[in-house]
Amino acid sequence: MNLIGLMSGTSLDGVDAVLLELEGSEPAALTWRLRAFVTIPYGEERRSGIAQAIESGDASSLCRLHADLGEWLAEGALAVCAAARLKPEEVAAIGSHGQTVWHEPPTAGRRGATLQLGDPATIAERSGVRVIADFRARDVAAGGHGAPLVPWADSVLFAGHGRRRAIQNIGGMANVTWLPPRGSDLPVFAFDTGPGVALVDAAAARATGGRMHYDEEGRLAAAGRVREDLLLELLAHPFFQLEPPRSTGRETFGTPFVRRLIERVAPNGEGQWADLLATLTALTARSVADAYRRWVLPHGVDEIYVAGGGARNPTLMGMLAAELAPVPVRRLDELGMDSDAREAAAFALLAWAHLLGLPANVPAATGAAGPRILGSLSPGAAPPRG
Ligand SMILES: Nc1ncnc2c1ncn2[C@@H]1O[C@H](COP(=O)(O)OP(=O)(O)O)[C@@H](O)[C@H]1O
Ligand SMILES: [Mg+2]
Repeated sequence: MNLIGLMSGTSLDGVDAVLLELEGSEPAALTWRLRAFVTIPYGEERRSGIAQAIESGDASSLCRLHADLGEWLAEGALAVCAAARLKPEEVAAIGSHGQTVWHEPPTAGRRGATLQLGDPATIAERSGVRVIADFRARDVAAGGHGAPLVPWADSVLFAGHGRRRAIQNIGGMANVTWLPPRGSDLPVFAFDTGPGVALVDAAAARATGGRMHYDEEGRLAAAGRVREDLLLELLAHPFFQLEPPRSTGRETFGTPFVRRLIERVAPNGEGQWADLLATLTALTARSVADAYRRWVLPHGVDEIYVAGGGARNPTLMGMLAAELAPVPVRRLDELGMDSDAREAAAFALLAWAHLLGLPANVPAATGAAGPRILGSLSPGAAPPRG
């Protein structure tokens, strides 16, 4: 069975589309192959349009963004079909995460709220393939965070034989999934560790006057020194003290966070900017490692696999490996999954779960009241009559 997964991440870097081929009819006996993966990068206009709508958009700009994202996600679906040399008719379903524009975790007195845009009807209309979308809503309605939603897919795709694995995603935000050995009765668990590269991205943009949108190959951070005093102060943020289940987003660790930090620290000259980049990169590495020490390593971890664009930042990867030694830190590519494709692949698998009527949230990870079937379905092209 061929499935497409679509994602537009918090980094606003573009649409990721994967074509995942599955063989098997149940999660415990499934083999998979990544047939194709494409990213359609957002140009400057799209990126700033999305960012503006998210930060200060009125109803009309959010409505327009919903429709536009539907078109861009549809482009991604058609492009990944072409890359895999498949016709849309050969695809069973599309799982579309869309673009998160707002995410509020539940608190003691108030339910959570989360909104992903990217009109599924448009994707179904352009491709003719049925689309399953809005995966987070049901978990949130059931009292959960609606995040992280990747752990079920991680367990199906990446659980090891006789090995305990941690799959660490570092996109705009960062989350971990702990996987017991395949076939074990131990529960999978997962939670957000905190910021991924969103803060580094925002600081890199400021440091270079907008020339860069991220710290390419981690070069800016590599030229600086970590300011330990500032790092400790940043680690005192209340999010890092929360017990899982917990989730976070750009509302907490985004551009406004970096704007306030820069106003306070007032970096002056290349050296001080480099130190700030190094410190923010270390904040990601240290907050991941601190979370592992408290909640993950006690369960035993034989190997760590990193996915997401953060895996392509060698400065960050080096800091992470140093923090977590002697546990080996590798890239998810070593398990046959392009580390940039993993999240989109998870939503392809969540579409499959929806079709089979399988609950695919992990209540221990999201805090939901129980297992739920995720997503809403937009039918594909009507079958020919007669
Ligand atoms: N060559 C690279 N060097 C350093 N960082 C990179 C590189 N390529 C990608 N990244 C980082 O990865 C981010 C995108 O990661 P991604 O997993 O797509 O996040 P999201 O899911 O939030 O969109 C970029 O914003 C950038 O910080
Ligand atoms: Mg992305």
